Amino acid sequence: MHAVGIVAAAGSGLRLGADVPKALVGLGGRPLVCWAVDALHVGGVDEVVVAVPAPQRAAFTDVLPAGVHVVVGGDTRTASVRAALAAAREHADGTDRTAVLVHDAARPLTPPAVVARVLEALAAGADAVVPVLPVVDTTVVVDDDGRVTADVPRAPLRRVQTPQGFDRATLVAAYGRVSGTAAAYTDDASVVRAAGVAVHTVAGDERAAKITVAHDLALAELQLSGEIS
Ligand code: CTP
Ligand code: MG
Repeated sequence: MHAVGIVAAAGSGLRLGADVPKALVGLGGRPLVCWAVDALHVGGVDEVVVAVPAPQRAAFTDVLPAGVHVVVGGDTRTASVRAALAAAREHADGTDRTAVLVHDAARPLTPPAVVARVLEALAAGADAVVPVLPVVDTTVVVDDDGRVTADVPRAPLRRVQTPQGFDRATLVAAYGRVSGTAAAYTDDASVVRAAGVAVHTVAGDERAAKITVAHDLALAELQLSGEIS
């Protein structure tokens, strides 16, 4: 199985509030996007396509390793993945199916073992697979006034991480069904599930946490320096 990694790195990182796009922000002295690309390579992906913001294309090309394919992303994550997917071609020898793993640049410290688990599930025949973690907090529904209206049984709930893995043809067909401007999808498994494809799960990892706000970046620095595990 040939595996192509897609890294969604075209967001601006408004909630982090840095003066550069989030994927270029440093962690241990290296941009987040470089960490995410490395995790995919070490985990077993053969080639990587990165979707970047148009104005910073050159800045991304400067920091990414040679051989990584850079494409300009779009206004939504869905549009960015769509652009990268167009560049992620079917593997030339055609003897085996091609896997596509879609990953967030914002999850820099994803252990390669998570990538390997996703690849393993695809190799075993799954068309779509996501890494997940349990929900540990009591979870409720509130009304417009912030009043609790219902408890949500948390046992069947999961938090979904990336990389999310797909049979390439399945992902391309699913993206073909959603409109170019669809902003309702926050991940790729929901695009595929909307097309009626079964989505399987493997164990995620707390260390694959997404960096959204400054506190998340501070935690990642501690994780890197070994002060927290
Ligand atoms: N992303 C993307 N293209 C977009 C928006 C987001 O490729 N138009 C990517 C981001 O670069 C990030 C991932 O999708 O790696 C997850 O998105 P998020 O954490 O929301 O990042 P941002 O959109 O950059 O942050 P914010 O929402 O705070 O502006
Ligand atoms: Mg965003």
